[in-house]
Parts: sequence; C-alpha cells; structure tokens
Amino acid sequence: MSLSPPRLAVVTGGIGGLGTEICRQLARAGRHVIAVDLATREERLAAFRQELADSHDAVTFEPADVSDFDSCQQLISRIEQQHGGVEILVNAAGITRDVSLRKMTPQQWHELMQVNLDGVFNMCRPVVEGMTARGFGRIVNISSVNGQTGQFGQTNYSAAKAGVHGFSMALARETARKGVTVNTVSPGYCDTPMVAAVSAEIRQQIVDGIPVGRLGSPADIARAVCFLAADDAGYITGANLPVNGGYFMSF
Ligand code: CAA
Repeated sequence: MSLSPPRLAVVTGGIGGLGTEICRQLARAGRHVIAVDLATREERLAAFRQELADSHDAVTFEPADVSDFDSCQQLISRIEQQHGGVEILVNAAGITRDVSLRKMTPQQWHELMQVNLDGVFNMCRPVVEGMTARGFGRIVNISSVNGQTGQFGQTNYSAAKAGVHGFSMALARETARKGVTVNTVSPGYCDTPMVAAVSAEIRQQIVDGIPVGRLGSPADIARAVCFLAADDAGYITGANLPVNGGYFMSF
C-alpha cells in the first residue's frame, strides 16, 4: 500500500502571533507546512524555529510580502516547483494601524488594506487554479470579530476584515464544485502582540466583556483553522467560524 504524501499547507503571517501556532497544529495534523512571512522578520526566525522545535521537519520558512502581487506569484511558483501544488492556504498575515478616522492618514488606510485585504487576493489568485484543477483545496482566511462589530479606532481594520469575509463567500461559490472550500475564522481578542499593543485600560474593558473571562489563545484559533482545513470538512464552505469566547454572539 502506498501512502500519499502529506498535504502541502501555506500559512501567511506564519511567524506571527497566530501564525506560529497555526503552523504547529497543521504540522501535528500531518501537513507539510510552509510558513510565509516578511524577509525582514527573519530575526524572529530563530525564535520561531525554537518554538516549533517539535515539528521542525514539517515546517519550513519562505519569505514573501503578501502586499505585493508579484512577490506572491513568485512564491507560489517557487513552492510548486520545489514541493508540488498548494493544497491548504491559510491567510493569517495582518497588521493594525489603530487611530480614529478623524486623524487617520491615507497611508494608514492604504498600508492596512494592502496587507489585510489585498494580501488575501494576492495569495488566493495564484493558488486557486491549481486547486480547482486538482479537485481539492482548503482556503482559510483570518477575519476578526471587529469586522463583524466594528471597533473604535479601527475603521480601516474593520473594513478590511469584513471585506475578507465577503471575498471568501464569493470565492467559495466560484470553487465549490471543484472540491475547494473557502471559509473565514474570526478570532476575538487573543493573547498576541497585536492585542498587547492596545492600552492596558482598554484591554481590560474588553476582557471584562468576554463571557469566557479571558483572552483567547493562539491555540484556540489554530484549532478552528485545522478543523476547516481537514479533508473531511468538504461540506463547510463560505462560512465564518467565530472564535471569540462569546464576545460577539450571532447566528
Ligand atoms: N470607545 C469610546 N470612546 C473612546 C474609545 C472607545 N473604545 N477609545 C477612545 N475613546 C474616546 C477617548 O476617551 C477620547 O475622548 P475625548 O476626546 O472626550 O477625550 C476620544 O475618544 C479619543 O479619540 P481620539 O480620536 O483621540 O482617538 P485616537 O485616535 O487617539 O485613538 C485608540 C484611540 C487608540 C484607537 C483607542 O480607541 C483604542 O485603543 N481603541 C481600541 C482599538 C482596538 O481594540 N484594537 C484592536 C487591536 S487587536 C486586533 O485588532 C485583533 C483582533 O482582530 C481582535
């Protein structure tokens, strides 16, 4: 009996707050994981390798800038030549530029859009044809509770994250008959550097409003990503999976 090779997963923001744990859990689930992040974050690579020491062989690093379409195209063709077709894509790269709209500069708007929304297009576009041609694909885009509710100081972030879900629903329709699912996971406030950057006072107010009574852990989010990326999750598409400790409940 011949065993099929592990599925190839690409995780953007792969050495970031949520991305590292997503890489770890995908590797533990038997995937061959390529963590994509900015080359300039290479100084974080040593720490990343250490954190992932237990899944060392299954996770490799590739530099790319998700806000740059050419960089993403080159990345995907490099990966496809070296490792084969991308079967799982997790778009977890994201930034904040928190400031109220009355003070927001066009640069703070565009920088955020280029990473958080254009980045999803730039990565999905070069993988989607291969996935549909092979008849299998799992795309999981990280949105946010703040895309669902809006947040003071986040007109840019909330718009991009709501856009990520709209994008995902549309692409889900285009690929549904070809074995490719497209979903979003919407994290609430998690124990990451991004949330640590919020002032202690505001963060405490937020935690007070979380029914579960704590920040989420990156593992809480990675668990949801792995669920949607599983081979047998083929009937879930165009969905948003909120993982927010009850901070925002809806149906
Ligand atoms: N709600 C209500 N009023 C608020 C407020 C809030 N959350 N934050 C500030 N204000 C008030 C201030 O008290 C102040 O009032 P006065 O003018 O009467 O003094 C005024 O609004 C300040 O307005 P500014 O225009 O000066 O605000 P600012 O441009 O300095 O920005 C901010 C304020 C730093 C963005 C602050 O609102 C903030 O930290 N907001 C929360 C941002 C946040 O939650 N980010 C999440 C990051 S993590 C993440 O995004 C991950 C994820 O997916 C969940």
